Amino acid sequence: MPKLSPTLIAKLNKQMMNELHAFITYEQLSMWAQLHLYCGIAAYFSEQAKEEFEHYKKYKNFLLERGVKPSICAIEAPISAEPNVLSHLKTALRLEEKNSASILDLRETAEKEKDVGTVLFTDYFVKEQELEEARLGGLIEVATKVQSATGEGLLFQLDSMIAKFV
Ligand SMILES: [Fe+2]
Ligand SMILES: [Fe+2]
Repeated sequence: MPKLSPTLIAKLNKQMMNELHAFITYEQLSMWAQLHLYCGIAAYFSEQAKEEFEHYKKYKNFLLERGVKPSICAIEAPISAEPNVLSHLKTALRLEEKNSASILDLRETAEKEKDVGTVLFTDYFVKEQELEEARLGGLIEVATKVQSATGEGLLFQLDSMIAKFV
């Protein structure tokens, strides 16, 4: 495999840190849900946090396999959300959209540089992002309907429905 260019190293390292940031953000979202007894949503966010940590490790290992030492840098505080279910779901979607943009940018650079290994590596994440955004979009749609119709009572029903997604 060719040596990674300095640009690709920087972008891969940045994405590794984005995944770590996603991990702590989902952890934070999950804590709020758990505190307010939205057990399904808490489990959903907690599962996402685990996945993000796995993504972080994939980037870390990819850099190591290509002979580069990854650099852990300071992580900004998790993105905060208004204290309600809908806002927590929207915060998660914003996070995923930001992540998708960054992954697509990384993939584009790899393509320009004809680094096929990195292109193939990022393909996995492009598919992953599509799935995560679609799932959150669906949950937001349902949560919006439920919230505007009947408020708190049905949100708990939504919560048990989300539990089935985990
Ligand atoms: Fe991720
Ligand atoms: Fe994600």
